[in-house]
Amino acid sequence: MMVLGIETSCDETGIAIYDSQLGLIANQLYSQVKLHADYGGIVPELASRDHARKIIPLIKSTLQEANVKPCQIDGIAYTAGPGLVGALLVGASVGKALAFAWDIPSVAVNHLEGHLLSHRMEINPPNFPFIVLLVSGAHTQLISAKDIGVYTLLGESLDDAAGEAFDKIAKLLGIEYPGGAMLSKIAQQGKPERFIFPRPMTDRPGLDFSFSGLKTFTANVIRKYHLDEQTRSDIARAFEDAIVDTLIIKSKRALKKTGFNRLVLAGGVSANRTLRLRMVEMMRFQNIEVFYSHPLFCTDNGAMIAYVGMIRLINGLEIDTKLEINVKPHWSLTELSAI
Ligand code: KG4
Ligand code: ZN
Repeated sequence: MMVLGIETSCDETGIAIYDSQLGLIANQLYSQVKLHADYGGIVPELASRDHARKIIPLIKSTLQEANVKPCQIDGIAYTAGPGLVGALLVGASVGKALAFAWDIPSVAVNHLEGHLLSHRMEINPPNFPFIVLLVSGAHTQLISAKDIGVYTLLGESLDDAAGEAFDKIAKLLGIEYPGGAMLSKIAQQGKPERFIFPRPMTDRPGLDFSFSGLKTFTANVIRKYHLDEQTRSDIARAFEDAIVDTLIIKSKRALKKTGFNRLVLAGGVSANRTLRLRMVEMMRFQNIEVFYSHPLFCTDNGAMIAYVGMIRLINGLEIDTKLEINVKPHWSLTELSAI
């Protein structure tokens, strides 16, 4: 089965083709980051317009890359939520129109499930059950995954998502939006303990997160110091260490609570090298195996949507036969149907 995946939930247009036998056979991404950088964040209306401009040419070039004709595609998977409503509508409209024209099924994919299962495109993915630490620009969640579609939310951020906190602090350090990856890069030159920032909500029980206090704390330090290159790196380092430590402490707690011995890192922030390395290092002592995707598939992409679409189409789940175009800007993982 060959599935065309369409991702337009936020500021990347991602198109990919996943084949149940061959795996990923084409993957293209158009990122709008330059468009939004001048505004210091995503402008939803501009995002929708840019998706509308880029989506058809990108689908054409993805088919060319795979050397596949439309008649060979067996299904279309599009991100139906969560995300920006206008941006989602572009992908959903094009996806459903193509499915109608090509007379094939379409499937509405949950973007978070795309992140959650993207590691399964790698070799030797873990068996269920496992814990997922899903850390993106919009979400920070700890999830128990017992099977495809059997997800329980164990904890989440009560305010800013980890990626959002990275981006806001990056902005205060003079880094262009979205600054998470660049902040991490300059943190590598930072002196380890020149600054020590709080590890929020780790001194009380529970699996929820809160990053807004850490953000304010860091912003106050930034205001107090002259930001020469070394100081910027030292602050970036202290901030990254605080986020990574907090994510490790809470992940350990979730593993202990459930008794699971596998941990999956997912979402844009899981591309963070320090998080990946330190998580593996810390979990080794407890015989916990840690899994994650190639960095290209941690951040938003069409491949994870095509992959989830394929799994759901093969199992006859969430197949969308209605002609009406529907998206869900808010759509929890816990509402999905199980296989
Ligand atoms: O999953 P994603 O592409 O989009 C959402 O679904 O939100 O995540 C984007 C987020 C941004 O906040 C970005 O700064 C962050 O992931 N990010 C990183 C790194 N790479 C991307 N944060 C820290 N370190 C990185 N290496
Ligand atoms: Zn995402």
